[in-house]
Amino acid sequence: MALLEVRNLTTYYETKIGYNEALQGLSFDLEAGGILGLIGESGCGKSTAGFSMMNMIEYPGKIMDGEVILDGKDLIKMDRNELRKVLWKDIAMIPQSAMNALNPAYKVGKQILEAIKLHFPEMSQEEAVAKVEHLLNLVGIDAKWYHGYPHKLSGGMKQRIIIAMALSCDPKVIISDEATTGLDVLIEAQILALLKKIALDRGLGLIIISHDLNMVTAICNRIGIMYAGMLVELTTTENVLRNPKHPYTRALFSSQIDSKDFDKKVTSVDGVVPKLVNPEDKCRFYDRCNRKFEMCERKCPSLISISDNHRVACYLEGDNHE
Ligand SMILES: Nc1ncnc2c1ncn2[C@@H]1O[C@H](COP(=O)(O)OP(=O)(O)OP(=O)(O)O)[C@@H](O)[C@H]1O
Ligand code: SF4
Ligand SMILES: [Mg+2]
Repeated sequence: MALLEVRNLTTYYETKIGYNEALQGLSFDLEAGGILGLIGESGCGKSTAGFSMMNMIEYPGKIMDGEVILDGKDLIKMDRNELRKVLWKDIAMIPQSAMNALNPAYKVGKQILEAIKLHFPEMSQEEAVAKVEHLLNLVGIDAKWYHGYPHKLSGGMKQRIIIAMALSCDPKVIISDEATTGLDVLIEAQILALLKKIALDRGLGLIIISHDLNMVTAICNRIGIMYAGMLVELTTTENVLRNPKHPYTRALFSSQIDSKDFDKKVTSVDGVVPKLVNPEDKCRFYDRCNRKFEMCERKCPSLISISDNHRVACYLEGDNHE
């Protein structure tokens, strides 16, 4: 059985003119030790997916449907009290711009300590302090920084502290939402390598949300490509690199600059993501697709299996479309 099972997760935001269908029917499994990248351009629903998996969507957002099964329990059915016991302890998220969330008035160690004491009230002060020091070591920060204030830390160090906080309650799944965006590329590579090592050593499931295809393919073993609130391709990193199927995945690749191939022709994906308020029931990529045909306008394709470990939502692929 998978560590985490996400089924048909669907989240809308209420607007004056109708619902913004920001996340539609997200489904995937995550194994222990699995590192899944969720990728797509801005506004395609990546953060909504992350917060929905944590059942942390707030008004005007609403989870309309779906299940998120962790340890046989559905997080979406839990009330606030039940959720409080699970969030951070079983599943943790490093949200976008998390490093700005460190409280400048408190010492770094105390901030991690508070998170631990909240979830392990029975732990003694000595044990909790030792755990903070262990976590600082784990993320490559000298334990003397326990007494340092956030403004003394570089961006990379703050990010390591945030990872330590995410790990503080020993979660089984970590969702990292653009955790390294804005950091120097070398620091970004170090931090992601660290996250990957911790995930593999501890058998965690890791979900890395990003818009950077090169980074995600370097670190993840599976990739989900999102477009306009839907998963349009889900497969192994090898398949995404060698045999991408969905026209959007292919377009994303041709729009990436390759630092190892300066002769590569870089093209942009023409057009913009469609409006998600009352969207038409056609393929959401229709207006930008250079391979569209008549059927694509009639109904939005579902994500179907085209081979082992390869699912695609496009009428050009597979023959079992409804
Ligand atoms: N709090 C909110 N209220 C209303 N609409 C929202 C809210 N948060 C997100 N949305 C809408 O939901 C859609 C998906 O947004 P989301 O932030 O999940 O995308 P994203 O892929 O994370 O984008 P980015 O790469 O810019 O972080 C967008 O149309 C966005 O405008
Ligand atoms: S279903 Fe049609 S419009 Fe959509 S990506 Fe495939 S070919 Fe293009
Ligand atoms: Mg986002």
